[in-house]
Amino acid sequence: MSENTTFYVIPDIGRGHKMLSIATDNPKENIMTQSQATTQRGTALITGASSGIGALYADRLARLGYDLILVARNRERLNALAQRISNDTRRTVEVLEADLGQAQSLALVEDKLRSDASITLLVNNAGIGTHTPLLQSNVDHMTDMIALNVTAPTRLTYAVVPGFVARGQGAIINISSIVGVAPEVLNGVYGGSKAFVLAFSQSLHHELAAKGVQVQAVLPGATATDFWAIGGLPVEHLDPAIVMPADQMVDAALVGFQRGELVTIPSLHEEDAWTRFETARQGLASKLSANVPAARYTAAH
Ligand SMILES: NC(=O)c1ccc[n+]([C@@H]2O[C@H](COP(=O)([O-])OP(=O)(O)OC[C@H]3O[C@@H](n4cnc5c(N)ncnc54)[C@H](OP(=O)(O)O)[C@@H]3O)[C@@H](O)[C@H]2O)c1
Repeated sequence: MSENTTFYVIPDIGRGHKMLSIATDNPKENIMTQSQATTQRGTALITGASSGIGALYADRLARLGYDLILVARNRERLNALAQRISNDTRRTVEVLEADLGQAQSLALVEDKLRSDASITLLVNNAGIGTHTPLLQSNVDHMTDMIALNVTAPTRLTYAVVPGFVARGQGAIINISSIVGVAPEVLNGVYGGSKAFVLAFSQSLHHELAAKGVQVQAVLPGATATDFWAIGGLPVEHLDPAIVMPADQMVDAALVGFQRGELVTIPSLHEEDAWTRFETARQGLASKLSANVPAARYTAAH
């Protein structure tokens, strides 16, 4: 975080106006309006909130009744979004300028997560990616990607979880990707980073569900945001048939969250395909370790 980083707090003019959430089969019906306000939800800290998926989470979570802490590097965009959301929803919105790829800056966000007991939801969304293969990729860019996509959500999760467990409640939404299970599709380090996010989320759920902590991994398919242009392949170059508008992706993911799903893949129409895949994976677990090699690897074979 730069030295001149400050917290920018939009005046709280809305405490007491809380939102009611009722999950239905229609994602649009799940985005509540201010007039339906009833419940205190606490504060959601969203990384990568200055654009794309993160900015939409900010909008939707405020409408669901969360106060917000918005984290990214672009302070102007964060401030503009905070002002709009605060005006629209009367929620308290705090802006925290931070480069999550830098250890010092990341540490300040970790401190915020450890010290602010109002935080009830962490959305690990900030991320970068690319489509380039290894031979056309710069390894320094790859390690920067690992810092943002892997190290940052890991450290932020470690910072927030002890408080959640102590209070017996809290939730973490981790933005993974379909390339987490299909790493051949884009750049391999990007796919690997998103596979990490998925595996980490599954482990977190295993360790923390009984302690009151809800965990969701969201695996978006191609989604229409700046992500593609920043990664070197503008979204207009993709087949429109595989690209989802970002608002529809986020609204669907929030339906999955409200249903308590561990893994949500908004673009996967065949729900059974994931269930079969996951059942097969879990079925392997008890067979993967043994005190002798499999027969196919022994000399006599
Ligand atoms: N779009 C897709 O097709 C797609 C598909 C699957 C998964 N995802 C995942 O969705 C997440 C959000 O991406 P998006 O599609 O919404 O892309 P985006 O519009 O480019 O948003 C990325 C966000 O991350 C922030 N960010 C980037 N580098 C950062 C850094 N060093 N420190 C702090 N914040 C940083 C950006 O803000 P600043 O520039 O202001 O820092 C921005 O708010 C990513 O994790 C991505 O991997 C996207």
